[in-house]
Amino acid sequence: MKKYIVSLAVGAVISAFGADQNSSEKLKSAAGDLKKMLMGELKSKITEGPAVAVDFCSKNALEITKKVADKNSVNIKRVTDKNRNPKNTMDEGDKKVFAKFAEAVKQTGKPGDAVIVVENGVQKYYEPLVIGEMCVVCHGNKENMAKATNEAIDTAYPKDLAKGYKAGDLRGMIVVW
Ligand code: HEC
Repeated sequence: MKKYIVSLAVGAVISAFGADQNSSEKLKSAAGDLKKMLMGELKSKITEGPAVAVDFCSKNALEITKKVADKNSVNIKRVTDKNRNPKNTMDEGDKKVFAKFAEAVKQTGKPGDAVIVVENGVQKYYEPLVIGEMCVVCHGNKENMAKATNEAIDTAYPKDLAKGYKAGDLRGMIVVW
């Protein structure tokens, strides 16, 4: 009898763990964590000037993303069609989802809600990122951006593609799996 109870308990733990691995709430909450972390750092650094914030992001954005992923035991990336950091590119699956968000922006002005896509048996959470007023400080038209900001970006990212956006534009996606 005792043995039976023990194995039952182990079974329950395994299935709970299995369900947790794939739960969409967990993926969504990790994306929320990342947004909170990055926005928090951005807001605090930008008070020291956009160029300081650019420097901070260029040295820490990917590391912060990795830390949030590890803390939540998931994988996370931020991807886009016009990347600043060459590491933030989309794979074929990402491109399909991005095209759907982009089409929705074209039709309705908004990308719509985050979606879950199952890819090769893996559940992936895709959340669209839209340009807000604050983002154009570093992702807007070169002519309207501060000289120091432009210089800091061009120095850290000689192949930057992530300028020229205006508020409401689809900037990219957070992907969690
Ligand atoms: C202080 C300047 C600054 C501001 C403000 C800023 N960004 Fe960025 N952004 C950067 C830098 C620098 C990177 C490259 C980070 C890296 O090396 O991973 C970046 C990268 C990104 C990426 C990853 C894809 C890529 O192009 O490499 C996304 C998505 C993004 N930003 C969205 C936003 C959004 C949305 C906002 C507004 C909420 C915003 N950014 C505000 C500087 C900024």
